[in-house]
Amino acid sequence: MSGSLSNPSQLLMRHADALSGSFLINPPADGIMRQLQADGGLRLTAHGSDQPSVEQLRSGERSENVVLFLPKSRARIAMLIDLALSRTAIGGRTWLVGAKKEGIASAARQFGLALTDGGTVRKTDAARHCMLFQAGPGDTARSFDLDAYWESFPVSLPGVDGGPHTLFSLPGVFARGRLDPGTELLLGHLQTSPGQKVLDFGCGAGPITLAAARGGARVTALDSDLLAVLSTRRTLAEAGLTGDVMVSDGFSQVNGSFDLIISNPPFHQGVQTTSQAAHGLIRQAPAYLKPGGSLLLVANAFLDYPRVMQETFGRCHCVAEAGGYKVLKA
Ligand SMILES: C[S@@+](CC[C@H](N)C(=O)[O-])C[C@H]1O[C@@H](n2cnc3c(N)ncnc32)[C@H](O)[C@@H]1O
Repeated sequence: MSGSLSNPSQLLMRHADALSGSFLINPPADGIMRQLQADGGLRLTAHGSDQPSVEQLRSGERSENVVLFLPKSRARIAMLIDLALSRTAIGGRTWLVGAKKEGIASAARQFGLALTDGGTVRKTDAARHCMLFQAGPGDTARSFDLDAYWESFPVSLPGVDGGPHTLFSLPGVFARGRLDPGTELLLGHLQTSPGQKVLDFGCGAGPITLAAARGGARVTALDSDLLAVLSTRRTLAEAGLTGDVMVSDGFSQVNGSFDLIISNPPFHQGVQTTSQAAHGLIRQAPAYLKPGGSLLLVANAFLDYPRVMQETFGRCHCVAEAGGYKVLKA
């Protein structure tokens, strides 16, 4: 019955009687929603056609039992604990589950510190290298204000006049608090022209989108992470610029074709390293490029993107190399 469930989900299923009908925050896409007959779920990351929405994030609905799955991004734990507590009904319980190697023990300590009404966090179970904690029953209705988590930081964007520019970001959005050195190298070699149709694939807090929009391009930006999409939207809006910024797992929500697709593609996911998303981007890019259009990427120099770009486009040109990064064009 639990064959394809992740380890945290298998641990939860040992408490299926108590947790049936729970509201799940950040659940994995492993069937746990169905198996626990969940009251609903809130994902921050798009998975295939499953799209998170800001309305879900801002909804104030409460449940008797709310289960938070430890997020991969440590920067997001405090925010999601606050969110989970705010979704728990008075008299209800808030649960936290996650893997030991991903830091569940320290997250549980953060969970305890977040219980401002004197409540305590109790370890309920441990198995499959995971731990399950619970707090409650709570006697205080907590509120959650997403706007309390914004940060802004000034950056200088190579090739873009009028700086410093300001990036806005929510917790766990890449690259919070600074401009990534790979992105910096890419922007130094980015040439956009007014009216050009540009797609920023994996927009994060929006530095590439901002640079392209400042250059007069018509920008579409996507990210699978809802908080990244909200961050790029705000980065653009605060600069007085416009663009179409959407939640999309890869190209799944993209229509139309572009003169230029630009990306600092994702390759880290939690404790594992994977090039899967970047390879998917390269292989599918030709279907979203106008005739004569280009794909411009920056990547760690050791990654095998040149081979995949060569295989896909029949060409790959290294535009720049510095600091362990390569800017690649096909
Ligand atoms: C290396 S960051 C680059 C962020 C930003 N463009 C910059 O240069 O600072 C890669 C981004 O890709 C996003 N991402 C990861 N997997 C994705 C997927 N399957 N589809 C779309 N975006 C994805 C991540 O959320 C992250 O914001």
